[in-house]
Amino acid sequence: MEIIIVDNSDQVSTTAADVIAAHAELGHTLGLATGSTPEGTYRELIHRYRHGDLSFNRCTAFLLDEYVGLPKDHEQTYYCTIRRQLTSHIDIADERVHSPDGTAAHPGEAAEEYERLIARSGGIDVQILGIGTDGHIGFNEPTSSLASRTRIKTLHPDTVRDNARFFEGDESRVPHHVITQGIGTILDSRHLVMIATGESKAHAVRAMVEGPVSAMCPASALQLHQHVTVILDRAAVAELSNVDYYTYAFSHKPQWQGF
Ligand code: GLP
Repeated sequence: MEIIIVDNSDQVSTTAADVIAAHAELGHTLGLATGSTPEGTYRELIHRYRHGDLSFNRCTAFLLDEYVGLPKDHEQTYYCTIRRQLTSHIDIADERVHSPDGTAAHPGEAAEEYERLIARSGGIDVQILGIGTDGHIGFNEPTSSLASRTRIKTLHPDTVRDNARFFEGDESRVPHHVITQGIGTILDSRHLVMIATGESKAHAVRAMVEGPVSAMCPASALQLHQHVTVILDRAAVAELSNVDYYTYAFSHKPQWQGF
């Protein structure tokens, strides 16, 4: 796990954009996350595309997760969110932007089909991840199997509360069920890029980086992956014990090593 600590959330966004841009230039399959944390990264990628520095025209994209039961054109579906935040502003073909079908009559089957679609397309090259305050990745809440595949999950009440801000603060409007890539599915991506900012994530970041690998903190499963880049701002590292070491290791990283 490589830990990159930068001063603020803007620098998290530009550093994450550097990593994603390197993959996009190779026409790689991108795993996209929603939530507020990646928004700055997406803005930066759009900026680079508009300035002619970057193209996504050979890329395919897969979303991590989706609410079950919202109409597809509801502005809070992740289908709409990722188009609004990123993909409708860049040169990726819309039919190559995939997400789980939260409107399916049989969401369990839709989840299995999504898993097959990812496999058929050759897997995900780089997966962007954010972290929930309870350590969830995608919508894999604490106690999710570390071997789980794409499936239906029930949201933890804390996540419903956290996400109510996207539904005018009304928890009763937040869907309680979701389809999410499993932790095993996420670990199959060839490169994981985790971004976290702000004090509210400091506790979860500590459990992810320095805690034991445990289903109680789904993000701690990243410790089992061989290629993880964690990009954090100062506030998000407030509870880490080994900040000096991570800073030392990154500042001594040979340039040829890349991301
Ligand atoms: C949601 C998403 C996650 C995201 C998390 C944190 O639950 N399913 O993918 O990482 O929220 O979101 P935010 O970045 O808004 O804090």
